[in-house]
Amino acid sequence: MKTILTGIRSNSVLTLGNYLGALLPMVRLANAHSKDSHVNIFVPDLHSIISDVDGDLRQNTLRTLKYYLAAGLEVNENVHIYRQSYVPAHSELCWILNCIATMGEASRMTQYKEKSKGQESCNVGIFDYPILMAADILLYDATYVPIGEDQFQHIELTRNLATRFNNRFGEIFTVPAKTADQVKFMGMSDGIRIRDLLNPEKKMSKSTKAENSKIMLDDNPAKAAKKIMSATTDSFGKVKFDMWSQPGISNLLQIEALVNDVPLQDVISTWASETRYGELKKKVASSVSEMLTIFQEKLADISDGEVFALLESGEKYANEVANAKLFEAQKAFHLR
Ligand code: TYM
Repeated sequence: MKTILTGIRSNSVLTLGNYLGALLPMVRLANAHSKDSHVNIFVPDLHSIISDVDGDLRQNTLRTLKYYLAAGLEVNENVHIYRQSYVPAHSELCWILNCIATMGEASRMTQYKEKSKGQESCNVGIFDYPILMAADILLYDATYVPIGEDQFQHIELTRNLATRFNNRFGEIFTVPAKTADQVKFMGMSDGIRIRDLLNPEKKMSKSTKAENSKIMLDDNPAKAAKKIMSATTDSFGKVKFDMWSQPGISNLLQIEALVNDVPLQDVISTWASETRYGELKKKVASSVSEMLTIFQEKLADISDGEVFALLESGEKYANEVANAKLFEAQKAFHLR
């Protein structure tokens, strides 16, 4: 059976970008494939501590796992839910991979460059985070890793490390699919990057200060609708999907397609003849507020106990699989 795997850090309440770019696609893929694939959903809590955490990390982790359930994840015996720090093999394999990764390739990671920019001193975790991510993926022989566009570079790094390891020691790791094939598997033609509502050249991010630039999953639905209504667009007066010349409008079209689970092309055709943006904004605002209303109601109904029960079996499974793979990597270096 193939493995599909993904993780979302839980430093704070998630944004609509995390939700539409990673969480919802994963839930849709999991529901479609969990009869004949392993589906690993984990919270990379060790990745969280490279930067500030709002509130209590353990509580945030529980909330993130509840998000998957509220988004409609159907759990069966092939769906495994776990916390990274409860599976120590992740950190162990990270160290081994550190010893085959080069400073040059880790320094080239855009996220490292962005996160360390302007900081007087940057913690080593920020630098090493893609290598830990590679360990997260390789321990489970994952082929597909549904993620947003900002993480693609880390998949390429993971592929390079796996290939290098295998060339040196024999076929130990499954090399994950190329990013182009990941995107195809997710049923898309491109990766998803939900944009900042006020500054659509940038991705929507929880760390952006301006409240109206981002929609958080706990936003009051009416407030979220207002944020969409005040989103930056342009003065071209034509609805065209082009992230370079019209990122604001393209972002709204993308959000509308993902929220309603309809092909982007259909949404583009529906609005192609509009010359004003007001009606489109109203429609997207209502789609998002309706989605948030339903999502928040479902979230409130999920108990901590339900999540702990899933974690118990998920972490047992994850430790068994990860320890067996770690052992092979340890043997390669004659540590065992
Ligand atoms: P993180 O926690 O920063 O982001 C979680 C996921 O959300 C996606 N995302 C977006 N997608 C579209 N538009 C946006 N505006 C947007 N913002 C965030 C990200 O692409 C990501 O998929 N290193 C990872 C977590 C991780 C991981 C892994 C993922 C650790 N180990 C192993 C997959 C497999 C991260 O920091 O994502």
